[in-house]
Amino acid sequence: MKKMELARTVEELRLHTDAWRDLGYVIGLVPTMGALHAGHMALVEEARRHADVVIVSIFVNPLQFGQGEDFDRYPRREEEDLEKLRAARVDLAWLPSEKVMYPEGFATTVRVGGPAKAGLEDAHRPGHFDGVATVVAKLFNQSGAHVAVFGEKDYQQLLVIRRMARDLDMPVNIVAVPTVREDDGLALSSRNAYLAPDQRKLAPRLHEELQRAAESIRKGTAVEAAAFNAREALQEAGFVVDYVEVRNAETLKPVKDQRSEPLRILAAARLGDVRLIDNIPV
Ligand code: PAF
Repeated sequence: MKKMELARTVEELRLHTDAWRDLGYVIGLVPTMGALHAGHMALVEEARRHADVVIVSIFVNPLQFGQGEDFDRYPRREEEDLEKLRAARVDLAWLPSEKVMYPEGFATTVRVGGPAKAGLEDAHRPGHFDGVATVVAKLFNQSGAHVAVFGEKDYQQLLVIRRMARDLDMPVNIVAVPTVREDDGLALSSRNAYLAPDQRKLAPRLHEELQRAAESIRKGTAVEAAAFNAREALQEAGFVVDYVEVRNAETLKPVKDQRSEPLRILAAARLGDVRLIDNIPV
């Protein structure tokens, strides 16, 4: 089996990507923050379908964490992650340090609008999407990837990155992969590791309520009423709800005509200090 390459500096990375480009290879990129699970591996598989060589980046990006968020305790398991990537026949693991990504004097960031200002995650995590966009723009430039794969689990993030790539003429094709779930419906997330056993038992309720809301909208319930009912049900079950909203699936703008627009229902809710997000199409 071909050995997986590791790169820890931009120079090391470019040694490989330049050679691949000379050979005419299509380069695929899967950006991650590590603590890899089956959801990430589905992104890797999708990247394989679109590219000749696949790079997975692992970088816990400080720019996208706010004050009091979980940057310090975010799970970091490099050795375990690298084993999973080797088993998935990834070609290169891109492992920049914070110093490599944001060297002394770093002073340029990307400021995103449109779907990044929809009043969903952005309302609860100020600056988050600017941090995501900045690191993703850097990952695109560092790797020169032709294709980059993102999960629908972070649906707002997916639309923000699509918008950024289009607005800034980045020559990269953004591919989306549906959310991978546990058997009980809970969306896979590296943060699920924080859930205590009783919280883990309750957590799938989030997906269940989204499904119930989507079903009732399909039967004719107004989107506002369906979202309100889901919020109430989740609160009663013990969640602290940040939002449950039905939005236009392409723009994340509020729905004007629910019979003609593509709809997506998105939610964030907390169990103790664990924050869960999820979304599904209607
Ligand atoms: O989705 C994530 O894991 C992160 O937001 C990303 C895209 C790797 C940027 O840090």
